[in-house]
Amino acid sequence: SQPQPLQGKKIMITAGPTREAIDPVRYLSNHSSGKMGYAIAHAAQALGANVTLVSGPVSLSTPDKVKRVDVNSAEDMLNAVMSDIDHQDIFIGCAAVADYKVEQVATDKIKKSAEHMQLRLARNPDILATVASLDNKPFTVGFAAETSNVIEYAQGKLERKNLDMIAANDVAIQGQGFNADNNALHVLWSGGQHNLPTATKTELARQLLQLIIERMDNDENS
Ligand code: PMT
Repeated sequence: SQPQPLQGKKIMITAGPTREAIDPVRYLSNHSSGKMGYAIAHAAQALGANVTLVSGPVSLSTPDKVKRVDVNSAEDMLNAVMSDIDHQDIFIGCAAVADYKVEQVATDKIKKSAEHMQLRLARNPDILATVASLDNKPFTVGFAAETSNVIEYAQGKLERKNLDMIAANDVAIQGQGFNADNNALHVLWSGGQHNLPTATKTELARQLLQLIIERMDNDENS
């Protein structure tokens, strides 16, 4: 039988939201369900890869034969990623990581008092950019969730974060993006792009991995 295209390859995928604690009972988060990242993990495993899925809190079951590491905050996610990034061939950042965390997490539940209150936020580390800056970096793929100027902003992230590829999605369109079963992706790399029109996340995951395999083959042969 034919060898599988990702046989012998190690791939790490982040998925889902992060939660940034405010106090022991509250957090800041977003609408990511994990569906897109889990679909990629499932598809990569089916193509023969050894898959590690670093997951924020979601209510999805772990795809068969996938190693899943559960995390909450962006900092937890960064630590889990960095502790196992050596020897990964491919990294795909599909998680919706909070850009900011609460600077001072309250140790006790915050009581209701004044009419207004303010939370002071501090920048979180950028997991994708950290991976992409490694000397021996894996083939590094980011996602870009945008609500306007989708391709332009994604192109900026591709260059600024030194990525090998970025998959942009317009999360302002009803029925795709966050928490939907379908999505549409515009995939960019240095010197090329490919549009993947609306399809199930399962199908898009396969198509995205196909593009990654083609680019990696191309890089190896150049
Ligand atoms: O989970 P689903 O409900 O299926 O929804 C899928 C999705 C919309 C979440 C997914 O398709 C998607 O777009 N994921 C990326 C969401 C996001 O946070 O995009 P961004 O444009 O803010 O971030 C750009 C890239 O940097 C992403 O690869 C992100 O993982 C990464 N990042 C961002 C901030 C940070 N501190 N660290 C990061 O690694």
